[in-house]
Order: sequence, then C-alpha cells, then structure tokens
Amino acid sequence: MSDRLYEGLARYHWWRRRLARARPGERLELHKRLAAGDADGPAAGVAGLDAWLADRIGPLDGAHVLDLGCGFGATLFALAARGATGVGVTASPYQVRRANEQARALGLDDRVRFVQQRFDAPIDGHFDAAVAVESLIHATDVDAVLANVARALRPGGRFVALEDCGADVLPDDADTSLLCERWVLGRLQHAGEVREALDRHGFRIRETIDLTAQVAPRPAAVLDASERRLRRTRRWLPVGRDVVDAFLGGVALERLYARGAMRYLAWIAEVDR
Ligand SMILES: C[S@@+](CC[C@H](N)C(=O)[O-])C[C@H]1O[C@@H](n2cnc3c(N)ncnc32)[C@H](O)[C@@H]1O
Repeated sequence: MSDRLYEGLARYHWWRRRLARARPGERLELHKRLAAGDADGPAAGVAGLDAWLADRIGPLDGAHVLDLGCGFGATLFALAARGATGVGVTASPYQVRRANEQARALGLDDRVRFVQQRFDAPIDGHFDAAVAVESLIHATDVDAVLANVARALRPGGRFVALEDCGADVLPDDADTSLLCERWVLGRLQHAGEVREALDRHGFRIRETIDLTAQVAPRPAAVLDASERRLRRTRRWLPVGRDVVDAFLGGVALERLYARGAMRYLAWIAEVDR
C-alpha cells in the first residue's frame, strides 16, 4: 500500500477503536483474525496468534526484538508482556504516534519504542529476533528488506514472518488486479519467491507452516454485496476514498483465498552466520 493509503487506514482504524471504547492495548492489531486450526497452528483469535508467534520466536525474557511493519504495536506489546524489549518500524507517522502513546499508557515505554522508517532502509541496532506480520506483502523490494533484517540480527537470530503469498500460479484476472490496484502493490509474490529471497540473504529456513486453512474468507454472496456497497460509497464520498480502496482490496484478497489462490504462510528462519 502507498504511505497515504496506510495513513488514512490507520486513522480510520483508530476512530473505530475509539467508538468501541477500547482500553489501552486492546484492538491494536491490523492483521487477520484466524479461525481455529489443527495442533500446529495458533488457537483462534488475536491472543492465540500472539502466543503462537511468541513460541515460534523462542525464549523472550530479555530478548531484543525488531517488528517490521509494526502497525500500532500489537505484536510487540504481546512480546513485551512476555519479557522482550523491542523496536517497531512502520512507514506511518500516525501509527508511530499512537503506538508510542499506547506504550506509555501500558507502562511499557521503557521496553518498546516505535519509529517511523521504511523497512527497506537500513535499520539501526542489533536484535535477537525479528518478526513481520502481514507486512512483507507491501514491500516494493523484498530483497532490500531481507538484507536489512539479516544485517540487524545477531548470528543465529530468528526471523518469524507471517504473510499472504500467492499460490504457485496466481490467476491473472479481476481479483488479482483489484487487489494489486487498490493496495498499490507492484505485484503479488508467491511462496517460492519469498523462500528464494530468504535463501539469498543467508536465512536458513527451519520451518514453513501453512496456516491457510485458518483463514476464513466470507461467503461469495457476502463478498459480492460488500464490493457493491463499497463501490457505491466510494462514488459519493468526498474524502476517505483511500480507506474504501483498502477494503476493496481486502474483498479481492478474500476471494483469492476462497478460490485457493493464496497461502497464509509462517516462515521461521535463522540467520546462518
Ligand atoms: C497489515 S499492517 C500489519 C501491522 C502489524 N504487523 C499488525 O499485525 O498489526 C502492515 C504494516 O506494514 C507497514 N508498512 C507497509 N509498507 C511499509 C514500508 N515500506 N516500510 C515500513 N512499514 C511499512 C504499515 O504501515 C503497517 O504498519
């Protein structure tokens, strides 16, 4: 997504969060809510995913963790609650401001901090682990991002990435175009490309876990109705069309999942040096 699109979406998310009277630390996540799965996958819901990610990262007490594309800090706060310290980077200044506010409200500002930075620019600091949740899909240059992560991690440091990837052959059709257009993605990467990029940057992949079965796209009729409503709204909306675009892209993503054209993959890798 473009920076402008993310900024609009972030403000919209915060407004919804206010309406819901969320308390500090609540409703901060900007990622999918997973359905229940088998024993390899996380338990359903946000807390289940946080616990699962924490286990995949390994011992957290005193670990210093980098969160790439940190949003409002949901993942880093969950890791800090388990003993980690960390830095979150996001391109969105609004997310940075709100995430740092949340850190203060939660009394975690001595453990975590959030900075505005594109993740394809060199990252300061040395980290024991890095995490990226639904962020890499937005990278225009995945090689530059992975080179940064590899440089920022200590030898043997772990990288856990959870990502929407195209299945081997992506359909060249309306859903793929709608997703790429509305989320301003150059193109969608497929799983093999991510694996090769990890290899190129010296990561040894310990495990790739397919969580696609836990992604629960809405039924086709609901998605069609949602697309019609969004398109109608977009026509008369004087401002905020970016937010509608983000949701239209989301509808296309759900359709691609429903058709078996996407994978939701967790990569657990270590820097091999
Ligand atoms: C889908 S959100 C996920 C946020 C967070 N990981 C979570 O799960 O709540 C994607 C995040 O990536 C960030 N992002 C997208 N492109 C970026 C870039 N080029 N550099 C830094 N952050 C970026 C967005 O601002 C947003 O914080």
